[in-house]
Amino acid sequence: MKAVKKILITGGAGFIGSHVTRRFVKNYPHYQVYNLDKLTYAGNLENLKDIEDAPNYIFIKGDIVNQQFLKDLFEKYHFNGVIHLAAESHVDRSITNPMEFIHTNVVGTGNLLFAAQEQINKGKLLDCFYHISTDEVYGSLGDTGLFTEETPYSPRSPYSASKASSDHLVRAFYHTYKLPVVISNCSNNYGSNQFPEKLIPLVINNILNMSPIPVYGKGENIRDWLYVEDHALAIDQVYHAGQKGQTYNIGGNNEWKNIDLIIKLCEIMDIRLNRKSGTSHKLITFVKDRAGHDLRYAIDSTKISQELGWKPTLDFETGMAKTVDWYLNNNEWLQNVISGDYEKYYDDQYKKR
Ligand code: NAD
Ligand code: TYD
Repeated sequence: MKAVKKILITGGAGFIGSHVTRRFVKNYPHYQVYNLDKLTYAGNLENLKDIEDAPNYIFIKGDIVNQQFLKDLFEKYHFNGVIHLAAESHVDRSITNPMEFIHTNVVGTGNLLFAAQEQINKGKLLDCFYHISTDEVYGSLGDTGLFTEETPYSPRSPYSASKASSDHLVRAFYHTYKLPVVISNCSNNYGSNQFPEKLIPLVINNILNMSPIPVYGKGENIRDWLYVEDHALAIDQVYHAGQKGQTYNIGGNNEWKNIDLIIKLCEIMDIRLNRKSGTSHKLITFVKDRAGHDLRYAIDSTKISQELGWKPTLDFETGMAKTVDWYLNNNEWLQNVISGDYEKYYDDQYKKR
């Protein structure tokens, strides 16, 4: 019988966090998994319904911006590992409300680092502080090139700047206090349980409702898409085998121009909904571009694949089919998350475009 390890996952009720939490709860019965989440608009315990009664899973509602709360939490549980995903994560919201991003992503991460470091100072065993970050910290690429772990940081939105700040704080705690940190920077994720403010679920939801599909600018911006469960697999591998003090870039090697991706989604949705071919395409509406819109992100995943043997397991065709089917089969989940505040958010973001 292996000794129980206590793992704190922050933001476990969110999109990626819920996939990571499920993976750790199911694959590692000797880990006691604590999911700390504030349950903002993006956090949803419905995402974890299937594991909520697992004996090695505990949910804790709390805010990483509250320093005293975090200190008390670490003092109570003496976690052996931390996987930090809690964040404000949507670029458009960061443009309208940057302070929320500075509080959660910068101050919240600082609080977490400080609480973890205090435990080490007291002689408690913490093996790994794993910070989950984004490729957006590297800024925007032109038509060619890829982000490597050596690409200089050049964030251009309040979201990416707040994530870049948190990455710097994590590295500072490694160099200054020897906190055993590891960081990964991932490209755009897609899959089940993603809040319909992000491109793919927003398009699926709008097609379902026969509403206009808002395409920013000319739709020529490019993103590198990775299926969320492949990101969770990478997080598992980095947590267990990543070298402390190191950064790993994670990407899908799967670049799509927004407009091409949207057209593809329209075709899949017409087939799934038994609608006449071309029905969804008619909903495409070009709208005012996002301020400071990064042109292209693309990741070089050589390091994680060579050092840790990670590679995506799912091709995009299969991943998209699974994603669309999930939203169609989970209409209740979708209706719940678009009730209440979502309508106001949508009007604020899109009516003026
Ligand atoms: P999400 O917005 O779906 O979920 C964020 C979670 O954090 C929610 O459950 C929310 O309730 C929680 N949270 C927010 N503020 C909190 C606070 N103050 N205290 C405690 N909990 C709080 O985000 P996501 O898309 O799952 O992203 C998770 C992480 O991965 C983020 O750090 C994000 O920067 C990073 N990331 C996301 C992507 C992507 O494509 N979605 C890509 C690369 C990296
Ligand atoms: P998003 O899912 O918000 O992720 P990110 O901005 O973090 O990459 O957006 C993906 C791309 O889709 C991005 O180039 C902006 C664009 N986009 C639209 O064209 N329309 C929309 O309604 C949204 C939400 C995004």
